[in-house]
Amino acid sequence: MFSLSLSAVFLAASLARAQVTGTFPPTPLYSKHFPHPTDLPEKVDTDQGLIRGTQFGYNICNSTTEGPTSLCQTSYVNGIEDFCLWSTPTEGKPISETEGETVAYCSKKGYGTRVMPAGTIKGLQVIKTPSYISYVGFIDQTLLGLPADDFGGELDPHGADLRGNPMGGVVYSKNFTSDGLPTQVPDWNLFIGGGGFCMKICDPADPNAARYCENRLDRIGCAYNLPSNAQTGTFEVCEGDNMEFPGVYTSNGATLTYAQPAESLGPITTVPYTPVVPSSSNCVTYTSAQIYTDLVAPSGATSSGASGSAPTAAGQSTSTATGRGAGSTDSPNDASALAVSGISLLGVVFASLFFS
Ligand SMILES: *[C@@H]1O[C@H](CO)[C@@H](O)[C@H](O)[C@H]1NC(C)=O
Ligand SMILES: *[C@@H]1O[C@H](CO)[C@@H](O)[C@H](O)[C@H]1NC(C)=O
Repeated sequence: MFSLSLSAVFLAASLARAQVTGTFPPTPLYSKHFPHPTDLPEKVDTDQGLIRGTQFGYNICNSTTEGPTSLCQTSYVNGIEDFCLWSTPTEGKPISETEGETVAYCSKKGYGTRVMPAGTIKGLQVIKTPSYISYVGFIDQTLLGLPADDFGGELDPHGADLRGNPMGGVVYSKNFTSDGLPTQVPDWNLFIGGGGFCMKICDPADPNAARYCENRLDRIGCAYNLPSNAQTGTFEVCEGDNMEFPGVYTSNGATLTYAQPAESLGPITTVPYTPVVPSSSNCVTYTSAQIYTDLVAPSGATSSGASGSAPTAAGQSTSTATGRGAGSTDSPNDASALAVSGISLLGVVFASLFFS
């Protein structure tokens, strides 16, 4: 068990909550169903006069909208080589300031979204479990518009005002149907920042989908919400067991459920359990050059265009990962540096992947 001594304030969560004044949409985002992408309207969120304004982007996305200025808020998650992340629409603006406006950045062209620049993904472990598929990866988040020191935030289809983050954002996957067509995934979440991300898409047919993908523990990051042994420089797809429901743990034979303390009590400094990484097997490994053939050339903030591909740069991710990354022995100072600089628990917790 590691302890965390932090002075960080959880801006993302506090801002989101402060903005809610009881103005909720007639229909929460979570209850809006568009089974196939062809069912989507221009905007999923048509609410007017609510506290967070109108939906920032749109949901019908095509070759006209594709490129570095796309505001597409429709995401696809189809596999290690074919998935999207939500990130800031505005270069340099952290997730905490843009979570309601985040847009899709995809590893494949053809969805009408922004396309990830080569070098974005530095390692990724995809695990198919009975109830969900998880993606835990390491990224150069500056290539997704985020400040290098952004500890990040959590995105999900609920949000404090039930309009979702991003508002109107919807996720599709081919992996829960037998016809190979993308279908909507109502239960999902994504933590992004601190140089990594973890994303879960929950099987719509699974009775526990909402529990595995719940967003109750939005302040304690990937280590607790999606414990994994993902490594920088490794790209693999595995089968695995379900994790415990987030927050559920066993102590002295008793099954307990952790609840986040109120934010008014200050930063979370300790969590009473160490999350268990579920077992996984049958991993198939890839090189990034094999799988990321659509990535665009990274080219400053202004325009990278949707053309050209520079797959080799994606292969620059190091092969120096040892054990779980930087390792607990060689970089203990990083932990204190993170804590001292006031990076939130999300950043620290994600970093704990390296130290556990
Ligand atoms: C692409 O999408 C835009 C915005 O939704 C729409 O106005 C346009 O007609 C579409 N173009 C094509 C080629 O489908
Ligand atoms: C998801 O579906 C795609 C396309 O059918 C397939 O290539 C991929 O292996 C599947 N991935 C998982 C994790 O099931």
